[in-house]
Amino acid sequence: MEISAFPGPSPAISLRFCKRISTPTVSSFLYLRCNLQDNSMDLKPKPPNLRMFILGMGFVGQFLAADLKNKGWVVSGSCTSNAKKTKLEQMGFDAYIFQANEPDFEVLDVMKHHTHLLISIPPVVGLGDPMLNHKGLLESKLKQGNVRWLSFLSSTRVYGDSGGTWVDEDHPIIPTNELARARLAAEEGWSRLGNDLGIAVQIFRLGGIYGPGRSAIDTIIKKEPLSTSHRARSSRRYTSRIHVADICQALNASIEKPSAGKIYNIVDDDPAPRVEVFTFAQNLITSKWPDHGQQIINPRMADTLIRDGGYSEEKRVSNNRMKEELGVKLIHPTYRSGLQDIIRQIDSPFVHNLPSS
Ligand SMILES: NC(=O)c1ccc[n+]([C@@H]2O[C@H](COP(=O)([O-])OP(=O)(O)OC[C@H]3O[C@@H](n4cnc5c(N)ncnc54)[C@H](OP(=O)(O)O)[C@@H]3O)[C@@H](O)[C@H]2O)c1
Repeated sequence: MEISAFPGPSPAISLRFCKRISTPTVSSFLYLRCNLQDNSMDLKPKPPNLRMFILGMGFVGQFLAADLKNKGWVVSGSCTSNAKKTKLEQMGFDAYIFQANEPDFEVLDVMKHHTHLLISIPPVVGLGDPMLNHKGLLESKLKQGNVRWLSFLSSTRVYGDSGGTWVDEDHPIIPTNELARARLAAEEGWSRLGNDLGIAVQIFRLGGIYGPGRSAIDTIIKKEPLSTSHRARSSRRYTSRIHVADICQALNASIEKPSAGKIYNIVDDDPAPRVEVFTFAQNLITSKWPDHGQQIINPRMADTLIRDGGYSEEKRVSNNRMKEELGVKLIHPTYRSGLQDIIRQIDSPFVHNLPSS
């Protein structure tokens, strides 16, 4: 399968066009273009050989893809449905349908010609990492390819419970559930694979990911019910989280400075409890749209958050290594700055809530 030629840097993007976003649902791609990527003044020409393949173009994958594409990279990635493929192509990415359980040889052939590979497909309880279940095939493809940087997106959940003390990357790992154990096994599997093939593999342990279109603000505006895992984490004193823009920063820093075998916690400075975050989000919404206060405020939400809690895993995750070794200066060191930035970009979230005539 042919790989398309390097297209050169993207044309400058109008800041005016990006400035306001009407609904949070369309915001992810545009947000990045505005906030991270409208750097047309300092677009540095990149060598034509930088190619990123993102296995799993989900929330993080799309942000990183937009970021890199804007810097002149060739970016390709995978998804699991035709509808998503069309959406990704409309955003300007080469998209491939790919099921990790039954890896498509042609897609693996495309993937191996990329210089950088991000694994953003999560492991599955009872199955493990669906890609690593085809380790032999992966090895044989990557061995003949160009991949020199590979990173796996893991989770701070692997640490388990520390009783609320700070944990860094050297802290003993005692995962408390099946998914966390599967993530840990996946971390080890990808690191071993990289070691065997001489590819620099980095592991990124992410806190709870939020950003435009996926945040406490969006949950409240859309009146989404809290998921079981949200409720399970509600009574915690500490919850690590990270804005997607800062994940992109950390990945970019690692691309600049690969370090084989390194693990990085990617979290902000403020492991605040969820109730605090939701209360702050609710106040932001009420002060921006006072007329809609009654419509969106769900007075039961805080109660539900507290009542349905009971999850005992308590830890504060340290981001010192990310700052010291990758040199990341967080754009959103706390949820406050992240949520304020998100709400600033939402124009009229209630248009769709108006009664039809
Ligand atoms: N959400 C969090 O707070 C959090 C925290 C820590 C770590 N993580 C992990 O960090 C990574 C990135 O997070 P995210 O929120 O960006 O994830 P996401 O939006 O759920 O994206 C996951 C991607 O993986 C693809 N995928 C899932 N199962 C697959 C399979 N069996 N075969 C092929 N593709 C598959 C999805 O395909 P489609 O696009 O077709 O759906 C999607 O593109 C994930 O591994 C996630 O588990 C998440």
